Amino acid sequence: MDHGRRKAMGAIGGVAAVGLLAPVAIGTAVAADKQGKTEVLDEKGQVVHQALPYVQLDPEAVAERAYQNYFKGDCMYGVFASIVEELADKVGEPYASFPTTVTRFGAGGVMGWATLCGAANGAAMGIYLVSKTPVPIIDEVFGHYSHAELPDYTPKSAKMKIKPSVSDSTLCHVSVSKWCDVAGAKSFSPERAERCAQLVASVAKKTVEELNAQAAGTFVAAYPIPQEVQACRGCHDKGSELENTRGKMDCGSCHTEQTKDHP
Ligand code: HEC
Ligand code: HEC
Repeated sequence: MDHGRRKAMGAIGGVAAVGLLAPVAIGTAVAADKQGKTEVLDEKGQVVHQALPYVQLDPEAVAERAYQNYFKGDCMYGVFASIVEELADKVGEPYASFPTTVTRFGAGGVMGWATLCGAANGAAMGIYLVSKTPVPIIDEVFGHYSHAELPDYTPKSAKMKIKPSVSDSTLCHVSVSKWCDVAGAKSFSPERAERCAQLVASVAKKTVEELNAQAAGTFVAAYPIPQEVQACRGCHDKGSELENTRGKMDCGSCHTEQTKDHP
């Protein structure tokens, strides 16, 4: 967005300055202020989550914008800025002055570390910005990211046809390298950049589809944590006998242990 930093910071300050509401109940969502921000309170009445107003967006319009934005600000920016800009067109503030360039940190799995894929990171941030109950949608988008053949959306001005691949992971490193293998392309090639741009478009589209569904009350999770991972977690995650790991990633993408003959 072209707005100056000062103006953007002013708008954010304005949002934060809105007074707290009377505590109601655990996890209660309360429609708040003129901007339509909803505050979710915990049992002590503390604001644990603030969701900005969301209106239904056109998934394809967001995907097209995401494809273009990838080339301006990379992957995380591509997804996040596109959702914010579409909302700015429909809702105005505080989206219109949102400092979206903050998401450039997510480029290449956070500044080239190839950890969490920027498209997934941007989706999670966008979801958390506008959803009153963000976790099920983040789980859904991350599950889709891990298990679907992506990219699955071809932008109108696509520069080339891209072979889709399945990552079994939300990590940039795994996702990129598995695609390089499938496509026979290099990780710093123009083909890889185009692949990530189309991936960004695909993830932005999926994110908005799920946000729309949740807003309409029709959201259904299609990617629960796989049985195999649940089994591993049953012995290794929170509250289990060993409790020596945490996470929802596919264990099998890194470990060779099988539930049957293990430990
Ligand atoms: C029935 C319980 C149980 C299940 C299910 C289970 N584990 Fe384990 N796992 C263990 C135990 C017990 C150990 C040994 C711990 C120790 O020695 O400290 C272990 C050890 C491990 C280790 C350490 C390396 C090794 O082999 O000793 C890894 C890695 C591991 N499990 C991964 C997995 C994965 C991945 C899954 C799912 C495919 C899984 N576990 C499912 C009980 C389980
Ligand atoms: C991105 C790769 C990756 C994924 C995905 C992953 N792990 Fe690991 N895990 C590791 C690495 C690397 C270590 C450290 C290995 C070591 O200490 O030898 C580790 C360590 C562990 C250990 C301790 C091993 C030990 O030496 O005692 C367990 C148990 C374990 N993981 C289970 C899981 C389970 C269960 C899942 C799925 C919920 C999972 N991991 C997902 C990479 C991964």
